[in-house]
Amino acid sequence: MPDYAIAPSILSADFARLGEDVDRVLAAGADIVHFDVMDNHYVPNLTIGPMVCSALRKYGVTAPIDVHLMVRPVDRIIGDFLEAGASYITFHPEASDHIDRSLQLIRDGGAKAGLVFNPATPLDVLRYVMDKVDMILLMSVNPGFGGQKFIPTTLDKLREARALIDASGRDIRLEVDGGVNTRNIRQIAEAGADTFVAGSAIFNAPDYKAVIDQMRAELAQ
Ligand code: DX5
Ligand code: ZN
Repeated sequence: MPDYAIAPSILSADFARLGEDVDRVLAAGADIVHFDVMDNHYVPNLTIGPMVCSALRKYGVTAPIDVHLMVRPVDRIIGDFLEAGASYITFHPEASDHIDRSLQLIRDGGAKAGLVFNPATPLDVLRYVMDKVDMILLMSVNPGFGGQKFIPTTLDKLREARALIDASGRDIRLEVDGGVNTRNIRQIAEAGADTFVAGSAIFNAPDYKAVIDQMRAELAQ
């Protein structure tokens, strides 16, 4: 079985009690904290930045923090997130003028680097930077908001990305983000994903552990 990881998106957490809510979701069995950064420019919403990432580290969160940048420009904010304790930093290729340089900046700073593809963005650029990515993140909704419905064409795209990863022979995580829940996670895994972002499915439920356990049970089938 692949090394599956559940990555709750804290976009749907209680921002007034963020540290406690992150503790709760990690205690419930989450593997990675997915951290959505929106700038009201690249996407039509505004969320959290490096200060909040650093505050979570100071609060005592030791789990990997997976920073999903939905910002333009990209490079200016990378250094701040490296200092704030990000483990992964991913960005959308169309938001960077110099994709190769942005990936290198992240890796030079000691974090893992990744590219994020919107539902209608082709995977073409991967061909040139496969040796510099540690994660490929496929959006299964249009970025900007939690609680949207999974776009089914993502399944074919996952298969395409999985084939590229397998052909590269490199250890690259294949993450999916948007509309993931206990009912579709198995099909998404079968298409090749190994890392599952889920915001509303987990944080809107009364019992986080029950949802995460159910997701793992689906993955184990
Ligand atoms: C959307 C964000 C997602 C989102 C996922 O732009 O990148 O991480 O919060 O939320 P759900 O799981 O509710 O679709
Ligand atoms: Zn995200």
